[in-house]
Amino acid sequence: MARYAYVNGRYVDHREASVHIEDRGYQLADGVYEVVGVRAGKLVDETPHIDRLDRSLRELRIGWPVSRNTLGFIIRELMRRNRLRDGLVYMQVTRGVARRDHAFPTAPVKPSLVLTTKTTKHIVADPGPGVAVKSQPDIRWGRCDIKTVALLPNVLAKQAARESGAYEAWLVDAKGCVTEGASTNAWIVTGEGELVTRQTDNGILAGITRHTLKSICNSLQLKLVERPFTLAEAKEAKEAFITSATSFVTPVVKIDGDPVGDGKVGATARRLREEYVRFSDEGEAVT
Ligand code: PDD
Repeated sequence: MARYAYVNGRYVDHREASVHIEDRGYQLADGVYEVVGVRAGKLVDETPHIDRLDRSLRELRIGWPVSRNTLGFIIRELMRRNRLRDGLVYMQVTRGVARRDHAFPTAPVKPSLVLTTKTTKHIVADPGPGVAVKSQPDIRWGRCDIKTVALLPNVLAKQAARESGAYEAWLVDAKGCVTEGASTNAWIVTGEGELVTRQTDNGILAGITRHTLKSICNSLQLKLVERPFTLAEAKEAKEAFITSATSFVTPVVKIDGDPVGDGKVGATARRLREEYVRFSDEGEAVT
């Protein structure tokens, strides 16, 4: 467990870190967040994550609680205080503390800023045996492009997956298409060797890992198509995998209990994970 958290200007003991009970994030899920992966002391893709935080804030008309430079400083200071080498930095901005009312507060309020870190296992190029996913209906709202803390549908889907022994839930829309995972983007590799992942619009989160992997696919001259794919197509695919700041590229070997391809980690997912791990080695270590 991390020793320090950052809460509105102070580095505090994580066990005692708290926000006001009338924080709009707590009462109304009126807030946004980001998760930046950390591997071997290096922040992975920090700039695009902070760009996306900026976008989420603008979409909800929440102001920046501190300057962008200051946020960069806080992230690093917290990493150092917690000696974070492998894991993630979580940051959350809510509209602030105000007497409960659904509408925005009329008097100006200061947005709340909270940061925590979490230590996880050092991610290696070897993907291990891969993971299972379970399909769940996508019952989320129409602005899944905003990274808000309103995650109840994702929570319920992930829980259903975990209770069935799967690692991740794949969310399926009314047309039978996989939109994304509960906390990851979803990809398949077709029998023809073409990579497919759903196009970005209001229906999914534009993953930063997804975006970087697109460039990697380009540099490897892999064919990538951004389009919807059905659950049935995914079950017939040669390979499948998920991407996120915390899972990097993780092969999916089972969907709803059925093996994907031969049920083993595929060559494409394996290669892309290797490349992404190499990418994460770039940059300067903070800790
Ligand atoms: N989840 N889709 C959803 C719904 C997500 O919550 C996430 C990230 C992603 C992948 O995005 P990225 O590559 O930028 O991490 C896709 C984070 C890790 C989380 O909620 O913990």
